[in-house]
This record gives sequence, structure tokens and C-alpha cells, in this order.
Amino acid sequence: MKGIILAGGAGSRLFPLTLVASKQLQPVYDKPMVYYPLTTLVENGIRELCLISTPHDLPRFKNLLGDGKNWGLTIDYREQAEPKGIAQAFLIAESFIGKDPVTLILGDNIFYGADSFKSAFDDFKTGASIFGYRVHDPERYGVVEFDEQGKAISIEEKPKAPKSNYAVPGLYLYDNQVLEITKNLKPSPRGELEITDVNVAYMKLGRLRVHKLSRGFAWLDAGTSSSLHEASAYVQTIEKRQGIKIGCPEEAAFRRGFLKLEQLESLAAKMPNCEYRDYITRVLTEAKR
Ligand code: G1P
Repeated sequence: MKGIILAGGAGSRLFPLTLVASKQLQPVYDKPMVYYPLTTLVENGIRELCLISTPHDLPRFKNLLGDGKNWGLTIDYREQAEPKGIAQAFLIAESFIGKDPVTLILGDNIFYGADSFKSAFDDFKTGASIFGYRVHDPERYGVVEFDEQGKAISIEEKPKAPKSNYAVPGLYLYDNQVLEITKNLKPSPRGELEITDVNVAYMKLGRLRVHKLSRGFAWLDAGTSSSLHEASAYVQTIEKRQGIKIGCPEEAAFRRGFLKLEQLESLAAKMPNCEYRDYITRVLTEAKR
């Protein structure tokens, strides 16, 4: 399965921070935001990636992540010239997707928790798999409604009167039919190709699965100044308490077997003397035990 990271948008809600760097390059505690969704994909076995951003910001992502080779990955880049919706990513990345299934993650979505996506990725064969996560302000998101058997019966984008408290997080898995479905979409009133319309199309075909995420799982959104600050505080709290790092792509690549121990050692050797290097060194020491 291929993986797309969508890191577009004007980031207007983070102004003036976004004059310095785009939203997905802002620090979330001790790393750039994009490290978190990247790590989520790598943890779930995705190693062929495509990052989509604006023509203005794309060079900075290329500087940061390169071609991925150092991490045992391949990273392609594509431009989204105008913000025409999340689903436009599939059209932009059509040649990258080819005939494969594809997962899309939003560059400002941060996930943390025990293996919640594992079965969705491991079991994925055809159709679409998305997630439902309980929030107190569902009107800000795509909202999924379930029937008594737990089957999804409606999905609405930012409804004024949400039919449930289950928001759809920015991680989606699709078979290759997503290309055909997206090509047939009409832009919404806000002029965008809506990811919710893709999900509704799969639902109408009876090909959509919605996995409910458990209450112990964290889905943080870092798109406003206060949610960015809260996400940083959350990451710091867990990292300090457990002595682990959330959103460390090198570690994820190593644990997935995309990087050999010696390769991780040589990456650490090239890092400046810093906490991040100390952490990788600890991962290596523990792996050698
Ligand atoms: C987008 C999607 C929405 C989804 C959300 C997750 O919203 O349109 O369905 O729930 O991402 O972060 P937006 O980023 O446009 O507010």
C-alpha cells in the first residue's frame, strides 16, 4: 500500500506563525509536526510515500525529509497549486498511486496509542477503511453516524447538527477505486473535493468499514495556536513519563525492519549532540541487549 501525506493549506489559523514556516513544519514539542503523521504511516508498514504541499512550502519539506532513503523509505513530492480539497490529493498523486491501494494521512493529525490502526492496516483488502473517534465538538469534523449494529449509516462534513459524537480523523485507507470515485466528484459549495464525499460514495457501494477508536487512544489536532500548544504539552507529558518518543520516524523505520541496526547507528552518529540523538542511542542500546 502506498502512503500520501497531505501537508497543504494556508495555515491561516496559525498566523503569524505560518509566516515563518508552514503549519506542518511547526514544532510539536520536540519535532516538526509532519514527523508524527509520517511515523504513523511507517509504524503501519508504509514505506513508499508521497508528500503533497503548496509550491511555496514543498522545498522546505524536501529539505527536511529528503528522498527518504536514509530512513529506508522512498518519498516523492507533488504540488497542490491551489487548496481544492483533501480528495484532490488522489488526482495529484495519480501516477504515484498507480494500480495500488493507498492510505492518506493529514499532515496536522497526531495519533498516539497502542496499535489502534494495526488491524485496519493488516486486514485491509478492498474497499475503504476509516475511523471514528469520540469528540466533544463533532461539528468541526466529518461526522459518522452508526446504527444499532455499529454499521455506519451517514457521514456528514462539518454538520451544524451532528448526528453523533464520532468524528472521522484524518487517516483513510482506500483500494484503487478511490481514483475513479474522486474523478466523478463534484466540488462542494466551498469549492473543494471533499474527502467526506469519497467516504459517502464507498458507503453507498457497501464498501466502507469504520473502525471505532477506543477511548484510551489519543487523536490530537494541532491546527490552532491553543491546540498546537496542547499537543506539545501532551507529547511532553508522555515522553517525560515513559522515556519514549512519540513521532520518531527513525525509530519506527528501525522497528519495522526498514532500517538495519548499523544504519540507525550511522544516522545517530551524524546527529548533533542533542536529546534526539540520546534517545536514538538508547533505542540502539536496548535493541542490542
Ligand atoms: C478535514 C476533513 C474532515 C476531517 C478532518 C480531520 O477537515 O474535511 O472530514 O474530520 O479533516 O482532521 P478540515 O481539515 O478541512 O477542517
